Amino acid sequence: MNAGMMEYRIVPMDIKRVADISVNKVQLLADAKHVQLLLETPGRHVWVKADVFRVEQVLDNLLSNALKFSSEGGIVKVVMKPDPSVGTLEVSVTDGGPGILAEDLPYIFERFYQGRTKAKQSAPGSGLGLALAKNVVEAHGGRIWIESEAKKGTTVRFTLPLMKPGESV
Ligand SMILES: Nc1ncnc2c1ncn2[C@@H]1O[C@H](COP(=O)(O)OP(=O)(O)O)[C@@H](O)[C@H]1O
Ligand SMILES: [Mg+2]
Repeated sequence: MNAGMMEYRIVPMDIKRVADISVNKVQLLADAKHVQLLLETPGRHVWVKADVFRVEQVLDNLLSNALKFSSEGGIVKVVMKPDPSVGTLEVSVTDGGPGILAEDLPYIFERFYQGRTKAKQSAPGSGLGLALAKNVVEAHGGRIWIESEAKKGTTVRFTLPLMKPGESV
């Protein structure tokens, strides 16, 4: 779990392909809950410098949280916004679930921390998903943060370094 103990294999990757894989993995669960999974990406490839497996883990964790906390008929949306002038990609995962209480927010990225928001009809988690996501994102030089309000839903955003045209890693 500690960033220093993980090995990273940084390569140029099209994060749209990884997002497709992550979304596909939870599609059946989303269908069963009648939750709409939306993926909003720019037209063509989105090249980032990242470890494919770790980024997939981050997306898996965020999608699984978003789905776990969505109620029947909800919407989960993944949006990708590249900002070439800054050299970063921003990815957000939004749900319309119960949200996170303000008093939980400062601790939510800590290992084993589970907020007071509990999911209905789902096995209890471990409190490790967001801690892992933070480790991975920060190991790539990115940041991760949450915008959430009780009863209004949750958006988790993170950034990753974009590949510059002609750049190699
Ligand atoms: N999308 C979300 N909506 C509401 N609460 C959330 C969401 N994502 C995370 N949380 C809160 O943050 C806590 C920690 O999340 P996480 O680290 O993924 O652990 P776990 O999912 O195993 O409980 C959760 O227990 C929950 O209280
Ligand atoms: Mg989780």
